[in-house]
Order: sequence, then C-alpha cells, then structure tokens
Amino acid sequence: MDLTPEEIETLNAYGPYNHAVWRGRGVTVSQEEGLTGRAEFLAALVRKVLQRSFTEAEMADMTLADVGCYDGWLLEQLADLPFKRLVGIEPRERNIEKGKAIRHVLGLQSRVEYRTGSIEALGTERFDVVICMGLLHHLECIGDALRSLKAICRRTLVLETQCLSSEHLTPEFVRELEPKDIAYFGKSQLVGLSGHKFESSYYHGSAIRSSIVTIPTISTIEMFLQQLNFTNIEILVPPSSYWKGGSVSRPTKLCCVVADCGDQKDDNRDHFAQVRDYEVGLMNMLLPERTADLLYNRFVGRPSRRPTFAERVIIGYATGPSWLTAPLLKLIARRWPNGFHLEIIKNLRYAPVDKAALELAKVRFAEGDFAGCIKTAKSIIGHINADWRATYRALLLLALANNRIGNESAARRYIDLARISNPDLPPELFDIHNSIFSLKPPG
Ligand SMILES: C[S@@+](CC[C@H](N)C(=O)[O-])C[C@H]1O[C@@H](n2cnc3c(N)ncnc32)[C@H](O)[C@@H]1O
Repeated sequence: MDLTPEEIETLNAYGPYNHAVWRGRGVTVSQEEGLTGRAEFLAALVRKVLQRSFTEAEMADMTLADVGCYDGWLLEQLADLPFKRLVGIEPRERNIEKGKAIRHVLGLQSRVEYRTGSIEALGTERFDVVICMGLLHHLECIGDALRSLKAICRRTLVLETQCLSSEHLTPEFVRELEPKDIAYFGKSQLVGLSGHKFESSYYHGSAIRSSIVTIPTISTIEMFLQQLNFTNIEILVPPSSYWKGGSVSRPTKLCCVVADCGDQKDDNRDHFAQVRDYEVGLMNMLLPERTADLLYNRFVGRPSRRPTFAERVIIGYATGPSWLTAPLLKLIARRWPNGFHLEIIKNLRYAPVDKAALELAKVRFAEGDFAGCIKTAKSIIGHINADWRATYRALLLLALANNRIGNESAARRYIDLARISNPDLPPELFDIHNSIFSLKPPG
C-alpha cells in the first residue's frame, strides 16, 4: 500500500532513519548512508549470539535492555525472541518519537517498552541481557560507562563501539607507557590507547551534551571489562568496517564484543591476593648464597671474587643500559626456577645496594644466621633515603628474625615500622607468629 504524501512528509520530518532498515507497507525506510549494511549485520549478529547463549525456555524468563536504543529498530528486530520483557533506554525523547512515528506509519506492532534515560543515570532495575550499540564512543569516560552497564546487567553484555586500530599501539608507545606495575606480573602486557575529540550534541545520534568523547582501541575495552570482573570476554567482530558497501566510504572502524557480567563485587577484588602472592613469592625466592654475597659486595664496592658469566650479565643489567644486557638476561633467565627470580634481578637496577642487601639478608635468615640477617637488613634501613620496597621487606625480615631469637619487643617494633612503611600490605603478611613466608634455602 502506497504511503500518502502526508505520511511521507511526516517520516521525513522525524528522520533521518540512519541506524535502521524499517520495512512495511511495501517500502523500506533507511538512510544509513556511510554505514550502509551495519544495522542488519548487527541485528543478525546479536540474534545469533543470544540464540547461541540461551534456549527459548531460558529467554522466556529473561529481560533485555538496549541502552542508547535510538529509534528502537534493533529491539524491534529481536522482539520475536521470547524474552519476557524488552526495554529500550534512550535519552532523546525525539528518538523514541522517531521510532513511534515510523511504526505507526508502517503499521508495525511493538511489544517493546521505551523509556527516557541515560547511561549516567540508569536507575536500579537490572536486566539479564544488556545491549549497548554505537554509544561508548559518544561518551567521555569508558570506564564509568561500562561500570554503569555492569550495574544493571545480570548475565550478558553485548557491546558495539567505534574503535581505533590496534596498529597505533606501537612498541614505542608501549615502552613510553611503562606497563610494569605488579598488576602485570606473570601476565601479558595488555595496554590500551584512546583518542579524544570534541563532539557536540547537534546530531541526534551523538553525545547528549557537548563534550570530549573517547574512542578506544579494542584492548582498552578488554582491559576495562577485565578490571570490572566481566568474564568470557569474546571479540565477536574485531575492529573492521563491516558496513562496507555503501556509496560513502568512512575510515571509521567498529568492533563488537560480548561478555558475561561475572559477579557484582568490587573492581579490586583480587588486589590483596595479587599483592600477597607477589610479596610471598619474592620473599621466598632465594638467590644462591654465592650470588647474593657477590652482588652485595660488588654493589657496596668490595668485589669479593670474579663473577661468572651469568653474574656479569646481572651486574651489567643492574648498573648499565638495559638495551645491552636485557636480551642476555632473558637468555639466562630461562634456567631460573620461576618468574620471581627474574623479577628480583630486574629490580636490582633501582637501588642496587639496598636490593642486594635484602637478598643477602634473606639468605642469612634461611641459613638460620639470624644475627647476620639482622645486621644486613639493618644496613638497609640504617641510612638516609633507603629504597622503600627494600625497607618494608627488610622491616618484615627484621621482625621475623628477632622473633626467632626471642627478642619480642624488637620484633613488635619492626612489625609496627613495617606497617607504617607499607600499611596497604595484606594483614597476613604482618603476622610474625604464623608467618606465611617460608624462606627456605633452595633444595
Ligand atoms: C550512534 S547512536 C546508536 C544508536 C543505536 N544503538 C545503534 O547502534 O544503531 C547513539 C545513541 O546513543 C544515545 N546517547 C547519547 N548519549 C547517551 C548517553 N549519555 N546515555 C545513553 N544514550 C546516549 C543517542 O541519543 C543515540 O540514540
């Protein structure tokens, strides 16, 4: 049935229908222009992911929300799936009206509930599935946005966003970023990059207020999802131009991700466990006595014997430019028992005397030479500008050694000082009577 001239005028007034391919009464209403093909591609992809993840019986007991739903086209495409409720959340009343107008003119029935709301104020209702397409790159802060989505998501989040190519993550960029926090210990060097640009609220598909928006790389998204305890993070479509084929070509790349919401606990749930494992691993990893002794004497300027080849590499790395010795260090580290050995050696370059003294003090403790341990550990904390990490570890060691020789008041004092030095350590590290450090000589 042909549309009347008045209906066409009305649709043009409500348009553009640029994130949709509305069909009805023998016409297709769609002005995707530079995104031609995107809407239908996404609808098919989301449907596939939902059908792969949930049975129809499960869906019948589930709710689904689309945040930044625009005119609701995507939701209407999914409305035949047996979800209990489908809810579209959109800050612009006009976009919701845009959808109503086209459905009215094309005679399309809808069971979707629409409400005004923004990602910054989503309310407290939670949904089993949350979809958020084409919105993240219109926002200032991706972390805050994902946190808000997680807060209303019970099971699965499906995201689509504009993405920068990972090509921009060059080795030079990664080097400048210095990803060497303990959060990276034993893990891959996942880093992200984001671009920023001004964006006004002029266009109905853009930011709701004029702001500086953030365009992430896919690894930025992965990092935030990991940090927020999302699990089973799957890149459904890597950054690509999956709408290609239209007459207008755009350099923009989009990507699509699905993840399980995990639990609702705090972002930093694993922080204490990570610090504990790291500190215990470092404390329990003992260098061979000859090496610890050689390094300490070498760094205080009293060379004791000729170093072996491996020891020369270690000394070179600790005192010279790393580009020269880093490859050799990597090579000899292959024979070391675990990553903590390498971590100790790599950290020697920051305050070598204090770091080497700590290693020697640990060895003395493991040998049962508590007086030797105390003497060496005190050499760290007994001078001005001592290295902070070596200090709090030496204080813990001093507390343990004094406890072993029955000097409880000294042990208590050193534990108190260790708490002052690094109060954020997990509490169990300060328990000298049931110490979780084993400090045994290598078998
Ligand atoms: C590019 S459109 C994407 C529309 C649709 N989800 C899609 O993928 O085709 C971005 C949508 O997000 C909405 N939006 C903008 N800022 C928002 C915010 N802070 N919270 C929620 N939605 C927002 C816009 O009004 C618009 O409907």
